[in-house]
Amino acid sequence: MGVVGLGTMGAGIAQVCVQAGVDTVGREVGDELAERGRATVERYLARGVEKGRTTQGEMDAALGRLRLTTELDDLAGCDLVIEAIVEEIEPKKELFAALDRIVSPQAILATNTSALSVTEIAAATAHPERVVGMHFFNPAPVLPLVEVVRTELTDPAAHDTAYAFAERIGKEPIRCSDTPGFVVNRVLIPLLNDCVRVLDEANVTPDDLDKAMLHGTRWPIGPCALIDLIGIDVHVHASEALWESLREPRMAPPPRLVAMAKAGLLGRKSGRGFYHYDR
Ligand SMILES: NC(=O)c1ccc[n+]([C@@H]2O[C@H](COP(=O)([O-])OP(=O)(O)OC[C@H]3O[C@@H](n4cnc5c(N)ncnc54)[C@H](O)[C@@H]3O)[C@@H](O)[C@H]2O)c1
Repeated sequence: MGVVGLGTMGAGIAQVCVQAGVDTVGREVGDELAERGRATVERYLARGVEKGRTTQGEMDAALGRLRLTTELDDLAGCDLVIEAIVEEIEPKKELFAALDRIVSPQAILATNTSALSVTEIAAATAHPERVVGMHFFNPAPVLPLVEVVRTELTDPAAHDTAYAFAERIGKEPIRCSDTPGFVVNRVLIPLLNDCVRVLDEANVTPDDLDKAMLHGTRWPIGPCALIDLIGIDVHVHASEALWESLREPRMAPPPRLVAMAKAGLLGRKSGRGFYHYDR
């Protein structure tokens, strides 16, 4: 299989594939970025060895299955290519049109987009019936869910093959159609936005709101801690995308989050969001 883009998600997806025994070609735009992708995979595999989840031999074998390239043509032999490049429609459309010309007629092309239209990406190719969404969650090696997304144009056999592949690499796939936010983000984004609005409406502190959801509903993590983990900017961006497609007020990012993003309070990654973090 092939992975295009070895950033946060692509490196994680590549890791899951090589660990499951699948030969994987990872494509980046430059050698340095490709090496950075390999280093990410290696670092996380090494952590698995330290924690006793995998052996040094298994780690070496997994790394040996990862081949890096900067040439799209090197993906010609792949049966499945998963795209995980920047979340922008034009580069994705361009990439899928090119991949469609390179891979064999039986190959499946999947996008890991969170918020863009899989249908629009598929329509940029000459064979939209082979295009699906495979939406992994961050961190991909840790979270089991993959939303396997069909468009109006997807061949059911291609959808089934993508689903079976997700199972083969040890994930817990679900089937769904191409609608804004698919399943999890469609539910989670307005819910988290409600939580932020409640902070001001109920005059409750982030700490107490998180405590309420942990102890009143047994959420595994409080909403403010979760937004800090996701990244305030990422959450605002996802909310805006859902708001633009659905025009439902609950989807729109709460002004408090927009202000935090503008102030550089991005959560864990910036050291401060709803909470302070040692970096
Ligand atoms: N980060 C998340 O939490 C998350 C979760 C689920 C899905 N996604 C989706 O996954 C995709 C990637 O997100 P990310 O967070 O990994 O981004 P990222 O910025 O960490 O990585 C993107 C990588 O793609 C590379 N790239 C760009 N154009 C390329 C091309 N034409 N060919 C090869 N490589 C190219 C970049 O150099 C970069 O390394 C996006 O569509 C995003 O919406 C992200």
